[in-house]
Amino acid sequence: MYVHVALLFGLLSGLVLGKSVIVPGALWYDTDGNEIQAHSAGILKVDSTYYWVGEDKAANSALFSAVSCYSSTDLVNWERHDNALTPVSGTNISSSNIVERPKVTSHGQNNQYVMWFHSDSSDYGLAMVGVATADTPCGPYSYRGSFNPLGAQSRDESVFLDDDQTAYLLYASDNNQNFKIAQMDSNYYNVTEVVAELEGATLEAPGMIKRDGVYWLIASHTSGWAPNPNKYFYADSISGTWSSQADIAPEDTKTYNSQNAYDLPLGTNAIYMGDRWESSLLGNSRYVWYPLSWSSGDPQIVFADLWTVDLDAGTYTVLNGTAYAASAGTLSGSAELLGSNSTYNGNEGVGYLGDGGSVTLTVPGIGADQWLALYYANADSTWRYVLVNNGSSVVVDQPNTGGVHVVLSVPVQVHLNEGSNTITFGADQSNYAGDLYEVIVYTQT
Ligand SMILES: *[C@@H]1O[C@H](CO)[C@@H](O)[C@H](O)[C@H]1NC(C)=O
Ligand SMILES: *[C@@H]1O[C@H](CO)[C@@H](O)[C@H](O)[C@H]1NC(C)=O
Ligand SMILES: *[C@@H]1O[C@H](CO)[C@@H](O)[C@H](O)[C@H]1NC(C)=O
Ligand SMILES: *[C@@H]1O[C@H](CO)[C@@H](O)[C@H](O)[C@H]1NC(C)=O
Ligand SMILES: *[C@@H]1O[C@H](CO)[C@@H](O)[C@H](O)[C@H]1NC(C)=O
Repeated sequence: MYVHVALLFGLLSGLVLGKSVIVPGALWYDTDGNEIQAHSAGILKVDSTYYWVGEDKAANSALFSAVSCYSSTDLVNWERHDNALTPVSGTNISSSNIVERPKVTSHGQNNQYVMWFHSDSSDYGLAMVGVATADTPCGPYSYRGSFNPLGAQSRDESVFLDDDQTAYLLYASDNNQNFKIAQMDSNYYNVTEVVAELEGATLEAPGMIKRDGVYWLIASHTSGWAPNPNKYFYADSISGTWSSQADIAPEDTKTYNSQNAYDLPLGTNAIYMGDRWESSLLGNSRYVWYPLSWSSGDPQIVFADLWTVDLDAGTYTVLNGTAYAASAGTLSGSAELLGSNSTYNGNEGVGYLGDGGSVTLTVPGIGADQWLALYYANADSTWRYVLVNNGSSVVVDQPNTGGVHVVLSVPVQVHLNEGSNTITFGADQSNYAGDLYEVIVYTQT
Protein backbone atom coordinates (compact mmCIF):
# COMPACT_ATOMS: atom_id res chain seq x y z
CA MET A 1 0.00 0.00 0.00
CA TYR A 2 2.75 2.40 0.99
CA VAL A 3 4.59 1.66 -2.26
CA HIS A 4 1.44 2.22 -4.28
CA VAL A 5 0.81 5.61 -2.70
CA ALA A 6 4.40 6.67 -3.39
CA LEU A 7 4.16 5.41 -6.95
CA LEU A 8 0.88 7.19 -7.51
CA PHE A 9 2.31 10.39 -6.06
CA GLY A 10 5.32 10.11 -8.36
CA LEU A 11 3.13 9.62 -11.40
CA LEU A 12 0.84 12.49 -10.48
CA SER A 13 3.66 14.93 -9.77
CA GLY A 14 5.31 13.89 -13.04
CA LEU A 15 2.08 14.63 -14.88
CA VAL A 16 1.36 17.85 -13.08
CA LEU A 17 4.86 19.34 -13.10
CA GLY A 18 6.14 19.23 -16.70
CA LYS A 19 7.69 22.40 -18.02
CA SER A 20 6.34 25.76 -16.95
CA VAL A 21 8.44 28.41 -18.69
CA ILE A 22 8.51 29.67 -22.26
CA VAL A 23 12.09 30.16 -23.43
CA PRO A 24 12.13 32.03 -26.76
CA GLY A 25 14.90 30.85 -29.06
CA ALA A 26 15.74 27.65 -27.13
CA LEU A 27 15.28 24.16 -28.52
CA TRP A 28 11.73 23.13 -27.64
CA TYR A 29 10.87 19.51 -26.94
CA ASP A 30 7.49 17.76 -27.03
CA THR A 31 6.16 15.55 -24.23
CA ASP A 32 7.97 12.55 -25.79
CA GLY A 33 11.28 14.39 -25.63
CA ASN A 34 11.56 15.01 -29.39
CA GLU A 35 12.32 18.42 -30.86
CA ILE A 36 9.14 20.24 -31.83
CA GLN A 37 8.91 20.56 -35.63
CA ALA A 38 6.09 23.02 -36.30
CA HIS A 39 7.52 26.08 -38.01
CA SER A 40 5.32 28.95 -39.28
CA ALA A 41 2.83 28.08 -36.58
CA GLY A 42 -0.92 28.17 -36.82
CA ILE A 43 -2.83 27.90 -33.53
CA LEU A 44 -6.41 26.74 -33.07
CA LYS A 45 -8.21 26.68 -29.73
CA VAL A 46 -10.95 24.11 -29.23
CA ASP A 47 -12.54 24.25 -25.77
CA SER A 48 -9.53 24.52 -23.47
CA THR A 49 -7.08 22.75 -25.77
CA TYR A 50 -4.70 24.54 -28.09
CA TYR A 51 -3.66 22.86 -31.33
CA TRP A 52 -0.43 23.91 -33.04
CA VAL A 53 0.00 23.05 -36.70
CA GLY A 54 3.22 23.88 -38.48
CA GLU A 55 5.81 22.89 -41.03
CA ASP A 56 7.87 19.83 -40.14
CA LYS A 57 11.32 20.78 -41.39
CA ALA A 58 13.26 17.93 -39.77
CA ALA A 59 14.56 17.02 -43.25
CA ASN A 60 16.18 20.49 -43.45
CA SER A 61 14.51 21.11 -46.79
CA ALA A 62 12.04 23.74 -47.91
CA LEU A 63 10.08 21.01 -49.73
CA PHE A 64 6.89 19.60 -48.22
CA SER A 65 7.34 16.79 -45.77
CA ALA A 66 4.40 17.20 -43.38
CA VAL A 67 2.15 19.61 -41.55
CA SER A 68 2.61 18.43 -37.97
CA CYS A 69 0.05 18.81 -35.19
CA TYR A 70 0.59 19.21 -31.44
CA SER A 71 -1.83 19.83 -28.59
CA SER A 72 -1.45 21.51 -25.22
CA THR A 73 -3.60 22.98 -22.49
CA ASP A 74 -0.85 25.31 -21.20
CA LEU A 75 1.08 26.40 -24.35
CA VAL A 76 4.26 24.95 -22.78
CA ASN A 77 3.89 21.15 -22.73
CA TRP A 78 3.04 19.97 -26.27
CA GLU A 79 2.06 16.44 -27.27
CA ARG A 80 2.64 15.41 -30.87
CA HIS A 81 -0.20 13.76 -32.78
CA ASP A 82 -0.20 12.06 -36.17
CA ASN A 83 0.57 14.52 -38.96
CA ALA A 84 -2.31 16.74 -40.04
CA LEU A 85 -1.33 16.80 -43.72
CA THR A 86 1.15 14.70 -45.66
CA PRO A 87 2.27 14.75 -49.32
CA VAL A 88 -0.14 13.45 -51.97
CA SER A 89 1.79 12.38 -55.04
CA GLY A 90 0.57 13.58 -58.41
CA THR A 91 -0.90 16.76 -56.90
CA ASN A 92 0.37 20.22 -55.99
CA ILE A 93 1.13 19.00 -52.47
CA SER A 94 3.55 16.25 -53.46
CA SER A 95 6.91 15.93 -51.70
CA SER A 96 8.46 18.07 -54.43
CA ASN A 97 6.12 21.00 -53.74
CA ILE A 98 6.04 23.79 -51.18
CA VAL A 99 3.46 23.77 -48.36
CA GLU A 100 4.01 26.63 -45.94
CA ARG A 101 2.26 28.64 -43.22
CA PRO A 102 -0.60 26.23 -42.47
CA LYS A 103 -3.45 27.88 -40.55
CA VAL A 104 -6.54 26.08 -39.30
CA THR A 105 -9.91 27.54 -38.52
CA SER A 106 -13.10 25.79 -37.47
CA HIS A 107 -16.42 25.87 -39.20
CA GLY A 108 -19.15 25.38 -36.61
CA GLN A 109 -21.98 24.93 -39.10
CA ASN A 110 -20.20 22.24 -41.14
CA ASN A 111 -18.66 20.76 -38.00
CA GLN A 112 -15.39 20.85 -39.89
CA TYR A 113 -11.84 22.09 -39.50
CA VAL A 114 -10.50 23.93 -42.51
CA MET A 115 -6.78 24.34 -43.18
CA TRP A 116 -5.39 26.99 -45.54
CA PHE A 117 -1.75 27.06 -46.56
CA HIS A 118 0.64 28.53 -49.09
CA SER A 119 0.77 25.98 -51.91
CA ASP A 120 3.53 26.30 -54.45
CA SER A 121 6.00 24.73 -56.85
CA SER A 122 9.59 24.36 -55.67
CA ASP A 123 10.53 27.63 -57.43
CA TYR A 124 7.60 29.47 -55.79
CA GLY A 125 6.27 30.19 -59.28
CA LEU A 126 2.66 29.02 -58.83
CA ALA A 127 1.90 31.22 -55.76
CA MET A 128 -1.37 29.52 -54.76
CA VAL A 129 -3.34 28.80 -51.63
CA GLY A 130 -4.23 25.23 -50.71
CA VAL A 131 -7.30 24.15 -48.77
CA ALA A 132 -7.85 20.93 -46.81
CA THR A 133 -10.56 19.80 -44.41
CA ALA A 134 -10.92 17.40 -41.48
CA ASP A 135 -13.41 16.32 -38.83
CA THR A 136 -10.93 16.70 -35.98
CA PRO A 137 -8.41 19.49 -35.21
CA CYS A 138 -5.34 17.38 -36.05
CA GLY A 139 -7.02 15.60 -38.93
CA PRO A 140 -5.67 13.93 -40.97
CA TYR A 141 -6.88 16.54 -43.43
CA SER A 142 -8.20 15.77 -46.91
CA TYR A 143 -6.74 17.96 -49.61
CA ARG A 144 -9.37 19.84 -51.64
CA GLY A 145 -7.05 21.63 -54.03
CA SER A 146 -4.83 24.62 -54.69
CA PHE A 147 -5.67 27.79 -56.59
CA ASN A 148 -4.82 31.44 -57.14
CA PRO A 149 -7.39 33.32 -55.03
CA LEU A 150 -9.59 35.41 -57.37
CA GLY A 151 -7.02 34.67 -60.06
CA ALA A 152 -4.15 36.46 -58.29
CA GLN A 153 -0.97 35.27 -56.62
CA SER A 154 -0.88 34.36 -52.95
CA ARG A 155 2.35 33.57 -51.13
CA ASP A 156 2.65 34.07 -47.34
CA GLU A 157 -0.85 33.93 -45.89
CA SER A 158 -2.90 33.56 -42.76
CA VAL A 159 -6.54 33.12 -41.85
CA PHE A 160 -8.55 35.38 -39.57
CA LEU A 161 -11.92 34.41 -38.09
CA ASP A 162 -14.06 37.35 -37.02
CA ASP A 163 -16.55 37.34 -34.12
CA ASP A 164 -19.46 36.92 -36.54
CA GLN A 165 -17.79 33.76 -37.93
CA THR A 166 -16.85 35.46 -41.19
CA ALA A 167 -13.41 34.17 -42.21
CA TYR A 168 -10.78 36.12 -44.14
CA LEU A 169 -7.65 35.20 -46.05
CA LEU A 170 -4.72 37.56 -45.41
CA TYR A 171 -2.15 37.23 -48.20
CA ALA A 172 0.88 38.61 -49.96
CA SER A 173 -0.14 39.04 -53.59
CA ASP A 174 1.19 40.41 -56.88
CA ASN A 175 4.85 39.37 -56.43
CA ASN A 176 4.65 40.26 -52.73
CA GLN A 177 4.02 43.91 -53.61
CA ASN A 178 0.38 44.26 -52.56
CA PHE A 179 -1.05 42.81 -49.38
CA LYS A 180 -4.69 41.71 -49.58
CA ILE A 181 -7.49 40.71 -47.29
CA ALA A 182 -10.24 38.67 -48.93
CA GLN A 183 -13.49 37.43 -47.45
CA MET A 184 -14.14 33.69 -47.60
CA ASP A 185 -17.31 31.97 -48.71
CA SER A 186 -19.62 30.50 -46.06
CA ASN A 187 -17.82 27.10 -46.14
CA TYR A 188 -14.32 28.63 -45.91
CA TYR A 189 -13.41 26.77 -49.12
CA ASN A 190 -12.78 29.78 -51.36
CA VAL A 191 -12.62 33.56 -51.25
CA THR A 192 -15.36 35.76 -52.71
CA GLU A 193 -13.94 39.31 -52.78
CA VAL A 194 -10.97 41.41 -51.78
CA VAL A 195 -12.15 43.68 -48.95
CA ALA A 196 -8.87 45.56 -48.37
CA GLU A 197 -5.60 46.04 -50.17
CA LEU A 198 -2.41 47.59 -48.78
CA GLU A 199 -0.84 48.64 -52.04
CA GLY A 200 2.92 48.48 -52.27
CA ALA A 201 3.16 47.31 -48.66
CA THR A 202 5.56 44.39 -49.45
CA LEU A 203 4.40 42.32 -46.47
CA GLU A 204 4.92 38.69 -45.51
CA ALA A 205 4.20 36.46 -42.51
CA PRO A 206 0.84 38.01 -41.54
CA GLY A 207 -1.25 37.51 -38.43
CA MET A 208 -4.27 39.37 -37.10
CA ILE A 209 -6.01 39.87 -33.83
CA LYS A 210 -9.11 41.86 -32.90
CA ARG A 211 -9.15 43.81 -29.68
CA ASP A 212 -11.96 46.09 -28.47
CA GLY A 213 -13.39 46.20 -31.98
CA VAL A 214 -10.07 47.24 -33.55
CA TYR A 215 -8.28 44.97 -36.04
CA TRP A 216 -4.49 44.70 -35.68
CA LEU A 217 -2.44 43.27 -38.52
CA ILE A 218 1.08 42.10 -37.65
CA ALA A 219 3.45 41.29 -40.52
CA SER A 220 7.07 41.30 -41.58
CA HIS A 221 8.56 42.84 -44.68
CA THR A 222 10.27 40.73 -47.33
CA SER A 223 13.89 39.77 -46.67
CA GLY A 224 13.93 36.05 -47.36
CA TRP A 225 14.88 33.94 -44.34
CA ALA A 226 16.69 36.90 -42.71
CA PRO A 227 14.76 38.83 -40.04
CA ASN A 228 13.53 42.41 -40.40
CA PRO A 229 11.63 44.82 -38.15
CA ASN A 230 8.07 43.42 -38.11
CA LYS A 231 5.25 45.96 -38.22
CA TYR A 232 1.72 46.54 -37.01
CA PHE A 233 -1.19 48.26 -38.76
CA TYR A 234 -4.66 48.89 -37.34
CA ALA A 235 -8.16 49.66 -38.59
CA ASP A 236 -11.66 50.02 -37.14
CA SER A 237 -13.04 47.85 -39.93
CA ILE A 238 -11.31 44.93 -41.61
CA SER A 239 -11.90 46.66 -44.93
CA GLY A 240 -9.92 49.67 -43.68
CA THR A 241 -8.86 52.35 -43.74
CA TRP A 242 -5.63 50.74 -42.51
CA SER A 243 -3.12 52.87 -40.59
CA SER A 244 0.44 53.34 -41.71
CA GLN A 245 2.99 50.90 -40.31
CA ALA A 246 4.91 51.04 -37.02
CA ASP A 247 7.40 48.71 -35.30
CA ILE A 248 6.36 46.03 -32.81
CA ALA A 249 9.89 45.95 -31.31
CA PRO A 250 12.95 48.24 -31.31
CA GLU A 251 13.88 48.46 -34.97
CA ASP A 252 17.54 47.49 -34.62
CA THR A 253 16.67 44.17 -32.95
CA LYS A 254 14.89 43.02 -36.14
CA THR A 255 12.02 41.75 -33.99
CA TYR A 256 14.58 40.11 -31.68
CA ASN A 257 15.77 38.21 -34.70
CA SER A 258 12.48 36.63 -35.71
CA GLN A 259 9.57 36.72 -38.16
CA ASN A 260 5.89 36.68 -37.26
CA ALA A 261 4.00 33.41 -37.69
CA TYR A 262 0.87 33.76 -35.55
CA ASP A 263 -0.61 36.15 -33.00
CA LEU A 264 -2.75 34.64 -30.28
CA PRO A 265 -5.04 36.76 -28.06
CA LEU A 266 -4.18 36.62 -24.33
CA GLY A 267 -6.53 38.57 -22.09
CA THR A 268 -6.32 42.19 -23.20
CA ASN A 269 -2.95 41.47 -24.81
CA ALA A 270 -1.61 38.78 -27.13
CA ILE A 271 1.24 36.39 -27.73
CA TYR A 272 3.59 37.07 -30.63
CA MET A 273 4.63 33.71 -32.09
CA GLY A 274 7.56 34.02 -34.44
CA ASP A 275 10.21 31.95 -36.18
CA ARG A 276 13.94 32.49 -35.99
CA TRP A 277 14.91 30.90 -39.29
CA GLU A 278 18.22 29.16 -39.79
CA SER A 279 18.29 29.02 -43.57
CA SER A 280 21.23 26.61 -43.81
CA LEU A 281 19.62 24.17 -41.36
CA LEU A 282 15.88 24.86 -41.53
CA GLY A 283 14.93 22.17 -39.02
CA ASN A 284 17.04 23.94 -36.40
CA SER A 285 15.02 27.16 -36.78
CA ARG A 286 13.71 28.25 -33.39
CA TYR A 287 10.35 29.37 -32.02
CA VAL A 288 10.42 32.88 -30.62
CA TRP A 289 7.28 33.65 -28.63
CA TYR A 290 6.91 36.81 -26.57
CA PRO A 291 4.08 38.64 -24.82
CA LEU A 292 2.67 41.37 -27.08
CA SER A 293 1.44 44.14 -24.79
CA TRP A 294 -0.80 47.14 -25.43
CA SER A 295 0.20 48.84 -22.17
CA SER A 296 1.63 51.76 -24.16
CA GLY A 297 -1.48 51.89 -26.36
CA ASP A 298 0.15 50.12 -29.30
CA PRO A 299 1.28 46.50 -29.58
CA GLN A 300 4.87 46.09 -28.46
CA ILE A 301 6.80 42.90 -27.82
CA VAL A 302 7.74 42.48 -24.18
CA PHE A 303 11.26 41.12 -24.23
CA ALA A 304 11.82 38.16 -21.92
CA ASP A 305 14.47 35.46 -21.65
CA LEU A 306 12.01 33.31 -19.72
CA TRP A 307 8.33 33.93 -19.11
CA THR A 308 5.19 32.19 -17.98
CA VAL A 309 1.61 32.48 -19.11
CA ASP A 310 -1.57 32.20 -17.02
CA LEU A 311 -4.25 31.27 -19.54
CA ASP A 312 -7.14 31.44 -17.06
CA ALA A 313 -6.20 34.97 -15.98
CA GLY A 314 -5.07 35.99 -19.48
CA THR A 315 -1.79 37.30 -18.09
CA TYR A 316 1.93 36.75 -18.48
CA THR A 317 4.89 37.09 -16.12
CA VAL A 318 8.42 37.94 -17.19
CA LEU A 319 10.87 36.06 -14.97
CA ASN A 320 13.93 37.63 -13.43
CA GLY A 321 17.35 36.11 -13.02
CA THR A 322 20.63 37.34 -11.60
CA ALA A 323 22.96 39.19 -13.93
CA TYR A 324 26.74 38.69 -14.00
CA ALA A 325 28.87 41.16 -15.96
CA ALA A 326 31.22 39.50 -18.42
CA SER A 327 33.77 42.21 -17.66
CA ALA A 328 33.99 40.96 -14.05
CA GLY A 329 35.16 37.55 -15.22
CA THR A 330 38.66 36.20 -15.74
CA LEU A 331 39.83 36.89 -19.28
CA SER A 332 42.31 34.65 -21.01
CA GLY A 333 43.96 34.31 -24.40
CA SER A 334 43.03 37.05 -26.84
CA ALA A 335 39.93 38.16 -24.88
CA GLU A 336 39.84 41.91 -24.21
CA LEU A 337 37.57 44.47 -22.61
CA LEU A 338 35.94 46.54 -25.37
CA GLY A 339 36.16 49.96 -23.70
CA SER A 340 33.73 52.40 -22.17
CA ASN A 341 32.03 53.11 -25.51
CA SER A 342 30.88 49.52 -25.77
CA THR A 343 28.57 48.87 -22.86
CA TYR A 344 25.21 47.30 -22.11
CA ASN A 345 23.43 47.94 -18.78
CA GLY A 346 26.59 49.78 -17.76
CA ASN A 347 28.73 46.70 -18.33
CA GLU A 348 31.67 46.79 -20.69
CA GLY A 349 31.68 44.08 -23.32
CA VAL A 350 34.31 41.37 -23.61
CA GLY A 351 35.47 40.84 -27.17
CA TYR A 352 38.03 38.82 -29.10
CA LEU A 353 36.54 35.57 -27.89
CA GLY A 354 37.80 33.77 -30.99
CA ASP A 355 41.34 32.45 -31.40
CA GLY A 356 41.32 30.76 -28.00
CA GLY A 357 40.09 33.85 -26.16
CA SER A 358 37.67 33.11 -23.33
CA VAL A 359 36.12 34.58 -20.22
CA THR A 360 35.37 32.62 -17.06
CA LEU A 361 32.72 33.60 -14.51
CA THR A 362 31.93 32.11 -11.13
CA VAL A 363 28.19 31.81 -10.53
CA PRO A 364 26.04 30.14 -7.89
CA GLY A 365 23.77 27.25 -8.86
CA ILE A 366 20.90 25.34 -7.27
CA GLY A 367 21.89 21.85 -8.47
CA ALA A 368 19.57 21.67 -11.49
CA ASP A 369 19.43 22.14 -15.26
CA GLN A 370 19.31 25.94 -15.30
CA TRP A 371 18.83 28.52 -18.00
CA LEU A 372 21.55 31.03 -18.76
CA ALA A 373 20.84 33.98 -21.05
CA LEU A 374 23.93 35.20 -22.86
CA TYR A 375 23.78 38.87 -23.82
CA TYR A 376 26.05 39.38 -26.81
CA ALA A 377 26.57 41.57 -29.87
CA ASN A 378 28.36 41.36 -33.19
CA ALA A 379 27.96 37.64 -33.71
CA ASP A 380 28.39 36.17 -37.15
CA SER A 381 26.27 33.05 -37.44
CA THR A 382 26.67 30.57 -34.62
CA TRP A 383 28.55 31.35 -31.47
CA ARG A 384 30.53 28.65 -29.90
CA TYR A 385 30.52 27.19 -26.47
CA VAL A 386 29.81 27.34 -22.82
CA LEU A 387 31.93 25.09 -20.64
CA VAL A 388 30.56 24.40 -17.17
CA ASN A 389 32.91 23.21 -14.42
CA ASN A 390 35.36 21.94 -17.02
CA GLY A 391 32.74 19.45 -18.25
CA SER A 392 31.84 18.92 -21.87
CA SER A 393 31.15 22.05 -23.87
CA VAL A 394 27.62 23.07 -24.82
CA VAL A 395 27.23 24.68 -28.24
CA VAL A 396 25.32 27.95 -28.27
CA ASP A 397 23.29 28.84 -31.35
CA GLN A 398 23.87 32.54 -31.58
CA PRO A 399 22.00 34.31 -34.35
CA ASN A 400 23.71 36.78 -36.63
CA THR A 401 23.08 40.36 -35.59
CA GLY A 402 23.74 41.40 -39.17
CA GLY A 403 26.70 43.68 -38.57
CA VAL A 404 24.55 46.04 -36.48
CA HIS A 405 25.80 46.67 -32.96
CA VAL A 406 22.74 45.57 -31.04
CA VAL A 407 22.81 43.43 -27.92
CA LEU A 408 20.56 40.36 -28.14
CA SER A 409 20.36 37.38 -25.84
CA VAL A 410 20.46 33.68 -26.46
CA PRO A 411 19.35 31.04 -23.94
CA VAL A 412 21.29 27.91 -23.11
CA GLN A 413 20.40 25.28 -20.53
CA VAL A 414 23.26 23.80 -18.48
CA HIS A 415 23.54 21.77 -15.31
CA LEU A 416 24.80 23.87 -12.42
CA ASN A 417 25.95 22.35 -9.15
CA GLU A 418 24.54 23.57 -5.88
CA GLY A 419 26.94 26.27 -4.77
CA SER A 420 29.75 27.69 -6.84
CA ASN A 421 30.26 26.92 -10.56
CA THR A 422 32.87 28.09 -13.04
CA ILE A 423 31.54 28.80 -16.51
CA THR A 424 33.79 29.55 -19.46
CA PHE A 425 32.55 31.24 -22.62
CA GLY A 426 34.59 31.06 -25.78
CA ALA A 427 34.66 30.12 -29.42
CA ASP A 428 36.31 27.33 -31.35
CA GLN A 429 36.38 29.67 -34.28
CA SER A 430 39.80 30.78 -35.45
CA ASN A 431 39.36 34.53 -35.65
CA TYR A 432 35.91 35.80 -34.87
CA ALA A 433 33.17 35.43 -32.25
CA GLY A 434 30.41 37.50 -30.70
CA ASP A 435 31.19 39.95 -27.89
CA LEU A 436 29.74 39.03 -24.49
CA TYR A 437 28.23 41.66 -22.15
CA GLU A 438 26.47 39.79 -19.40
CA VAL A 439 25.11 36.43 -18.40
CA ILE A 440 21.81 36.10 -16.57
CA VAL A 441 21.38 33.00 -14.45
CA TYR A 442 17.80 31.78 -13.93
CA THR A 443 16.56 29.32 -11.35
CA GLN A 444 13.16 28.52 -12.94
CA THR A 445 12.92 25.46 -15.20
C1 LIG B 1 -0.64 22.45 -60.01
O1 LIG B 1 -1.36 23.65 -60.21
C2 LIG B 1 -1.17 24.19 -61.50
C3 LIG B 1 -1.87 25.54 -61.52
O2 LIG B 1 -3.22 25.39 -61.22
C4 LIG B 1 -1.72 23.24 -62.53
O3 LIG B 1 -1.47 23.76 -63.82
C5 LIG B 1 -1.01 21.90 -62.40
O4 LIG B 1 -1.62 20.97 -63.27
C6 LIG B 1 -1.10 21.40 -60.98
N1 LIG B 1 -0.24 20.24 -60.84
C7 LIG B 1 -0.70 19.06 -60.45
C8 LIG B 1 0.32 17.96 -60.37
O5 LIG B 1 -1.86 18.88 -60.15
C1 LIG C 1 -13.42 30.24 -56.28
O1 LIG C 1 -14.24 31.29 -56.71
C2 LIG C 1 -13.89 31.80 -57.97
C3 LIG C 1 -14.68 33.07 -58.23
O2 LIG C 1 -16.03 32.87 -57.95
C4 LIG C 1 -14.15 30.72 -59.01
O3 LIG C 1 -13.80 31.17 -60.28
C5 LIG C 1 -13.27 29.53 -58.66
O4 LIG C 1 -13.53 28.46 -59.53
C6 LIG C 1 -13.49 29.08 -57.25
N1 LIG C 1 -12.47 28.14 -56.89
C7 LIG C 1 -12.70 27.04 -56.22
C8 LIG C 1 -11.50 26.20 -55.90
O5 LIG C 1 -13.80 26.72 -55.83
C1 LIG D 1 11.18 41.31 -11.97
O1 LIG D 1 11.78 42.54 -11.66
C2 LIG D 1 10.97 43.67 -11.94
C3 LIG D 1 11.81 44.91 -11.70
O2 LIG D 1 12.38 44.87 -10.45
C4 LIG D 1 9.73 43.61 -11.06
O3 LIG D 1 8.89 44.69 -11.35
C5 LIG D 1 8.99 42.30 -11.34
O4 LIG D 1 7.89 42.17 -10.49
C6 LIG D 1 9.91 41.11 -11.17
N1 LIG D 1 9.23 39.92 -11.65
C7 LIG D 1 9.11 38.83 -10.91
C8 LIG D 1 8.40 37.70 -11.55
O5 LIG D 1 9.54 38.74 -9.78
C1 LIG E 1 33.95 57.21 -27.33
O1 LIG E 1 32.95 57.94 -28.00
C2 LIG E 1 33.16 59.33 -27.96
C3 LIG E 1 31.93 60.02 -28.55
O2 LIG E 1 31.63 59.44 -29.78
C4 LIG E 1 34.45 59.66 -28.72
O3 LIG E 1 34.71 61.05 -28.66
C5 LIG E 1 35.62 58.91 -28.06
O4 LIG E 1 36.79 59.07 -28.82
C6 LIG E 1 35.30 57.42 -27.98
N1 LIG E 1 36.31 56.76 -27.19
C7 LIG E 1 36.95 55.67 -27.58
C8 LIG E 1 37.95 55.11 -26.64
O5 LIG E 1 36.72 55.12 -28.65
C1 LIG F 1 39.58 23.63 -15.20
O1 LIG F 1 40.70 23.22 -15.96
C2 LIG F 1 41.78 24.14 -15.91
C3 LIG F 1 42.83 23.67 -16.90
O2 LIG F 1 43.01 22.29 -16.78
C4 LIG F 1 42.30 24.21 -14.48
O3 LIG F 1 43.33 25.15 -14.40
C5 LIG F 1 41.14 24.67 -13.58
O4 LIG F 1 41.55 24.64 -12.22
C6 LIG F 1 39.94 23.76 -13.74
N1 LIG F 1 38.82 24.36 -13.02
C7 LIG F 1 37.96 23.66 -12.32
C8 LIG F 1 36.84 24.41 -11.66
O5 LIG F 1 38.04 22.45 -12.17
